[in-house]
Order: sequence, then C-alpha cells, then structure tokens
Amino acid sequence: MCGIVGYVGHRTPVPILLEGLKRLEYRGYDSSGVATMNGGGDMWIHKRQGRIRNLEKDLPSELPAATMGIAHTRWATHGPPNDTNAHPHRSRDGRIAVVHNGIVENHSALRKRLTGDGIVLHSDTDTEVIPNLIAKFYDGDLEVAVKRALGLIQGTYGIVVISVDEPNRLVVARNGSPIVLGVGENEMFVASDAPALIAHTKQVVFMDDGEVAVVEPSGFRTTDLHDRPIDKAVDELDWDLQEIEKGDFEHFMLKEIHEQPRAVTRGLRGRAHLEYGDAHLGGLNLNRREFFDIRRMGLIACGTSMHAAMAASYLIEELARVPCKVDIASELRYRNPIVDAKTLYFAVSQSGETADTLAAMREVQRKGGRCLGVVNQVGSTIARESDGGMYIRSGPEIAVASTKAFTSQLLALTLFALKIGRMRDLSAAAGRELLTALHELPGQMQSFLEGADDIERIARSLIHQPYCLFLGRGPNYPAALEGALKLKEVSYIQCEGFAAAEMKHGPIALIGDGTPVVFLVPKDRLHTKTMSNMEEVKARGARVIAVANPGDTEVEELADEVIIIPRTHDLLTPFLTVLPLQLIAYHAAVLLGLDVDKPRNLAKSVTVE
Ligand code: AGP
Ligand code: GLU
Repeated sequence: MCGIVGYVGHRTPVPILLEGLKRLEYRGYDSSGVATMNGGGDMWIHKRQGRIRNLEKDLPSELPAATMGIAHTRWATHGPPNDTNAHPHRSRDGRIAVVHNGIVENHSALRKRLTGDGIVLHSDTDTEVIPNLIAKFYDGDLEVAVKRALGLIQGTYGIVVISVDEPNRLVVARNGSPIVLGVGENEMFVASDAPALIAHTKQVVFMDDGEVAVVEPSGFRTTDLHDRPIDKAVDELDWDLQEIEKGDFEHFMLKEIHEQPRAVTRGLRGRAHLEYGDAHLGGLNLNRREFFDIRRMGLIACGTSMHAAMAASYLIEELARVPCKVDIASELRYRNPIVDAKTLYFAVSQSGETADTLAAMREVQRKGGRCLGVVNQVGSTIARESDGGMYIRSGPEIAVASTKAFTSQLLALTLFALKIGRMRDLSAAAGRELLTALHELPGQMQSFLEGADDIERIARSLIHQPYCLFLGRGPNYPAALEGALKLKEVSYIQCEGFAAAEMKHGPIALIGDGTPVVFLVPKDRLHTKTMSNMEEVKARGARVIAVANPGDTEVEELADEVIIIPRTHDLLTPFLTVLPLQLIAYHAAVLLGLDVDKPRNLAKSVTVE
C-alpha cells in the first residue's frame, strides 16, 4: 500500500528520498517521513501527517550531513494518520529505524512482550514493534538481529532497516509486500515500486517473499531467513521516466485514459496472426495438448481487474466454448476452492501485487491448479509466481483509478479466448473477423477520445445528483459496473452498476424524477432488449444518458443525452463503451475539485488484506 524508498551511496539522500516518495504517493498517502544518517551514525528523523508537501515544507533549511536514508508514505492500517504514527519508527533506544509496508498481525502479543521487557511504545501502530524487536536482538550484527526479529513476526512486511551502529548499510526484507532494489554506480536504491527508481537506474532486482538483502553502496547480497545465500537476477526496466510523468495532461488519470489506443496497439503487436485468424501468445507455458485439455476457466481478480475479467468471460465462453467463472479474489482465497486439473486459472492484476489476488492464486496453486497471470507490472510478484502468463503492456499506470489496465487486460484475455477458440470450433474466418475488428479499435478509440468534448457537460449534470445508475447487458454489464466504480472512487458520488434487465428486480425502486441512468446500448444483439429497459426507467421519470452507435434513431428519440461511440464487433463493444464512463468519472472529480489521481482512502496497489 504505502511507498518505501531507501538510498545508500555518495549523494545527499533527502532530495532522492523525497523525489522517490512523490513518485509513489499514489500508492498510499496519509502521512510520510524520512530518516537519514551520516557515516558517523548520526540519525535524523522527520515525519508529518498528510501529503508529502507537509513533510517538505517543514524541512529545516540546513539538512544534517548524510549519505544514506529511508523514507515512507503511509496508508494506515493500525493507528490514525498523525505525526507520531508516521514512519520511520525508531527503537526506544534510538539506535534502529524502520519503514514498513504491510501488517504485523501479532503486534499486540509482541507489544506485550516488549512492555514486559520495560520497552514502552509510543505510537498506535503495529509497525513500532519491529525496530524495538531488532534493537532487543541487536548484538553487533544488524542482519542477524533483523532475521531474529522477523522470526517472531506474523503477517506481511516490506521493510528497510538502518542502525546507528552500522552506517552505510540498509537491511531489506520482504514477505508479502513488494520490494525492488535499484543498482547504481557506487550507490544503491530500495523502493516498494520501480517508479521511485527509474530516474536513477533501470537495473532492478525484484525481491521475493522470505528474502533478506544487505545493501551497501558497492552492491547487495541476498539470503533467506536462515542465512542460505540466494542469487538474484538483475532485470532491466522496459519503460522510461516520461511514461510516469503527466506531460501535457493535468492529471495522470486523463493521460492514461488517452493512452488506451496506444496501449491496445502495443498489446496487439506480435500477437495477432491474421492469416490464420489466430493469436500468438508466448509465455503461457502450455503445449498444444495442455491447451486442448482445458475444459473450464477461472478468472481471479479484484476491482477494475475483476470487471475486465467479467467482460472477458463473455468472450471466452462465446469464442472458446468453455465455461468461464470469475471469482472475487478475496472470496476465493477463503472458500476452500474446488480446484481440478482441467480448469485453467488466470490471476488478473494491473499491479501484480494485490494481496487478495496473490493469495487466491497461491491457494489454487497449492491445490495443484495451474494459474497464469495477466499482469501489467513486469517482475511483479504475481507475474513471477504464476505458472506463466501475459503482460498487458499498457505502460505504468499511476492514477489510483485504473483505466487503461481495464482495456489492456480485456485485450489480453480476448486474444487468449481467440487462441483457445481456434483450437476448437472457431473458424479462421471468424478469427480473422475478430482480429480485424481488434486492429480497428485503436483508431476508433482515438477518434472517440479526440471528439469527446461534450462529456464534461454531461458529468456536470451528474455531480449534484444523490444517486445514479449504470446499466448494460452482456459484456457491457461489467462495463457498467466499471463505470460505476470509476465514478464512485474519484468523485465519491453514490452510484451503482447493474445488468440492465436486473434493474427491474429491485433497483428500479430507486428511480425518481430526473434520476440519471447511463445506458450502454450499442447496436448489438441485445439492443432491442436494452431499449425495453430504457423505456421502463424513462416511464418512471429517469433522465437517460445513452452510450450508443451512430445513426441509432431509436435511442436518439428516447434518451435525454446520447454519447456516440464507433460501431465494432458485438464482443468488443466494452473497449469503446467504457471510454465515456471513464471520462464522466474524471470530469466529475475535476468539477468537484477533488484529488483525481489520489482519491481519499484509496491506494493504487492493495497489498494488505
Ligand atoms: C480500480 O480503479 C481500483 N484502483 C482498484 O479496484 C483496483 O482495480 C484493484 O485494487 C485491483 O488492483 P490490481 O489490478 O492491481 O490487482
Ligand atoms: N501497518 C503499518 C501502519 O499502519 C504500515 C501501513 C502501510 O503499509 O503503509 O503504519
């Protein structure tokens, strides 16, 4: 959830740490802090509630001399956001400081144990037990003391530890919360996510659960908790700094909405075999026989990724003719799932670090199931622990509200559905038709986005409404859910998405005079049925905003507002219907003066339960 940054080298650490935190602020941001140390072991800590700018504005004009440091942006799990509970947390003897991402589940028992030793903790956090346990075990070797302390901890952590007794050394450990090392020239970096490192190096090392690294300016050494050495590969990041900057856009969310045509183009590149109407998908680690033996599919995800998975399930069943079940990851992981050898699972996750999705994948794998990954973040935990998979290639997604990941995940799963379908009953001609339509999507998305000037006016009509509904059928039902999630999470407006026909079984009671109802009603085979639902809400006073295709006079006569999107293959309509919904949410948030890229209470990657 939070952002962690560490530095050890020859430069002044505070500017490096603060710049890194700012690039991670989307991950969690209710307080922040830094700790630095010089070669003599003089530690200095500064922390503040609120945004990083609060931390920055209270910095002393003269920073203490230092060549290393650690920093943290917090997404509170235990203890309210305030200066005391902000990280870094320091041991009572002042010798150890720690930044932590995750949850110490047995913190109460450990707190009691420390109190019994006469160590009284000052904060409300679970984290504060960590530096005090390390200090308790410290006997001249920080790495040993860290490992002994971690042996008592139940829960999840990504931590960076410094000690006044061992200046120029960071001890880093990971269990359930991502940590990546950055390799520089006689300097080293640590972060919870690669954007904090990209300005300094593209050489990165993704740590795995149960690993501990000792990091010094000259390099790093990794072992497990039992001191067994572990060789780690150094990977190269495949994107650049400007991809995580806003450029000409006011917000990351708007930039990423507009990046979708390019992301779809990148997602298609090298994966479409037009001649055979088939898809080329490397990295699945499945041979033809294993592909052929797939009898069912299970998609596991959370949030927007779940909506992408739901939309994909329609394509998978239509094209591959295999049953496809979508599970909310947090539900699957605790349901003692029934896993069989004929079911192929996919963990769908933009960050590749979502705790519930990762845990659900591990539960499926523990039972012998095969789980692939559909992931954006290269080198993320789900990408590395899955049994293979596809990167969605949408480029870094910084805004907390996920947009381009939705269409890129849907594309990856569409290509998989095509591949499986072509190994079954789907004809080459039908495959070519789908691929042709997929190749037209980037241009169609681009033309819609370039002409979407009217969306702000429509968003303005929603922002003072107490409630609104998003309705769709078929693969546009998940798109309607996604539209409601977007509006909820960035503008805090009460709204819901429903299957259009389902609205009659209860939610129609919510329709009053002027209630805005957004209908996704492309000219697909369900158009007539959706029109009936539109009549039903119209008859009860609703204000209908329709997302429809050009020349749809039926819709134009009935709806109060019409947003025109290009016509595409029936199965691909969510790629286009979702675009106006993303923009409605974006403009609503801007009109309400809210923090579009960092909405309240949210974090970009939910790495805790
Ligand atoms: C989407 O806008 C939200 N930020 C959230 O629902 C997100 O989709 C969810 O947490 C899953 O994240 P993931 O794709 O990184 O696993
Ligand atoms: N559980 C810790 C706290 O509440 C860390 C939260 C985080 O990951 O930011 O301070």
